[in-house]
Amino acid sequence: MQDSKHDIHTGVDDNAVVIQQRKGSSGIKGIIENPYVFAVALFASLGGVLFGYDQGVISGVQEMETFMARFPMDSTTNGLVVSILELGAWVGAWIVGYFADKISRKYSIVLFSVVFLLGSSIQGGAQNVGYMFGGRFVTGMAVGALSMLVPLYQSEIAPPEIRGSLVSLQQQAVTFGILISFWIDYGTQFISNEAQWRVPLCLQIAIGVILGVGILFFPFSPRWLASVGRDEESLRVLAKLRRVPVDDPLAIAEWREIKATVEFDRRVQAEMYPDLVQQGTRTAAIKVNLLGYVELFRKGMFNRLFIACAIMFFQQFVGVNALIYYAPKIFQSVGLTGDTVSLLATGVVGIINFVLTVPTVLFLDSFGRKPMLLAASAFMTCCMIIIAVIVGMFSDDWENHTKEGWVAVVFVYIFIANFAYSWGPIGWVYGSEIFPLRARAKAMSISTSANWMCNFIIGLITPPMLDSIGYGTYVFFGCFCFISFFFVLFLVPETKGRTLEEMDAIFGGNSAAHDAELMAQVQQDVAAEPIPGVSKV
Ligand code: BGC
Repeated sequence: MQDSKHDIHTGVDDNAVVIQQRKGSSGIKGIIENPYVFAVALFASLGGVLFGYDQGVISGVQEMETFMARFPMDSTTNGLVVSILELGAWVGAWIVGYFADKISRKYSIVLFSVVFLLGSSIQGGAQNVGYMFGGRFVTGMAVGALSMLVPLYQSEIAPPEIRGSLVSLQQQAVTFGILISFWIDYGTQFISNEAQWRVPLCLQIAIGVILGVGILFFPFSPRWLASVGRDEESLRVLAKLRRVPVDDPLAIAEWREIKATVEFDRRVQAEMYPDLVQQGTRTAAIKVNLLGYVELFRKGMFNRLFIACAIMFFQQFVGVNALIYYAPKIFQSVGLTGDTVSLLATGVVGIINFVLTVPTVLFLDSFGRKPMLLAASAFMTCCMIIIAVIVGMFSDDWENHTKEGWVAVVFVYIFIANFAYSWGPIGWVYGSEIFPLRARAKAMSISTSANWMCNFIIGLITPPMLDSIGYGTYVFFGCFCFISFFFVLFLVPETKGRTLEEMDAIFGGNSAAHDAELMAQVQQDVAAEPIPGVSKV
């Protein structure tokens, strides 16, 4: 047994040694070695299930007879009913940051689960299309907020060596949500009354309740606790998450890292805006926060923001959600007849999307980001062109060209498979790894909202495009797949295995080098401070 007193008073060098000696494994082994953290992250990813479920469920629901009878609408209104959820999510992604810092990540998850319950109840009980708009907008706010909160919470409880895997668990959860929603739609289409669409819309309430109530039994984020000065609790939670006693050297070393990060942010602000920070008023704090956004437009930072947002733009404009939201319509457009057949074909999209995300979640850190995006863009372009050609040639006479229709379906599947291992997960991961520490949260909220705004546009324009330009819809998305290839080739640097300091060399700017110096100083100061509450243990 080591002498805990000795460990408690270790300096910054000893701290670094303890951290370096951390023999944690990554990948599947790392997950098995951290069952409690994994369970917490898995539970939190129910937020991702809601994200996927809500996106996917509308696809089958809007094709159901009793739904169409209750809400007769043209293709533009149809597009708006689908995409207003994404507009709500855009709003949710903007406002959630405030709550996450103010009332904690955990209580924000509770709050937005309640918002989710409200929105999904309005959707499930909708009497006219107005309810549907309102319900989907409110649900969307919750979905957008959870799309920020869950990865934030997961990354803050995770040990570094499995952080990548735990964060990409979110994308796996999204695909799982889409998958179950497709199959629930498939199952309830056989009901002949309005329960046909009300049941799938109401079932999500159960997931929302489980998330909102269940998260209360899980810990606060230790980083958030440290940021509001609840140091002793922060160390206790961390030790619990790592399944070690509070005076364990590893828990203390990691806690010191967290404390240093919090202190670092404070000093950066004091250095950049000395007058405002000295004022210490609420208005000054708001100003400092807003100035953090202005910093994102400076040299060495704006190019990162541009790339992060452009990746989100292409993640949406390659057309994946045209498939997720309107798969049954698309399958009908390539000649599949009957609701059952097209919903069945849609269910298969869900399975492929889910299964092909697994390898990336497990091996993300061994594959390069760039080759995966490039390969996927090339295949996705070919798929869209082939589908466009088949639809263009045979859409007037599917009856005599069922074989060609099935070939188009297969290419829809190949398209989704390529999206699932690449743009789906990497779109979210890339933006989270290229920014220096202090700009990360703000930059991510901008790129997340860019994602939702593009998602909204796709949801809105797809039905009128399918109606008016038919095969041109696939040409349209094919063009973006094609451009995305060259965007990645020329503008997206490989980030696999790079440290924060190396990101500066790639993107320009010197913030990381300066940050490293300041961080060393902060670490030294934090190492000299006593460890809260440990003497009482
Ligand atoms: C995207 C969603 C999309 C999903 C499909 C996510 O990465 O952000 O818009 O529906 O992937 O799996």
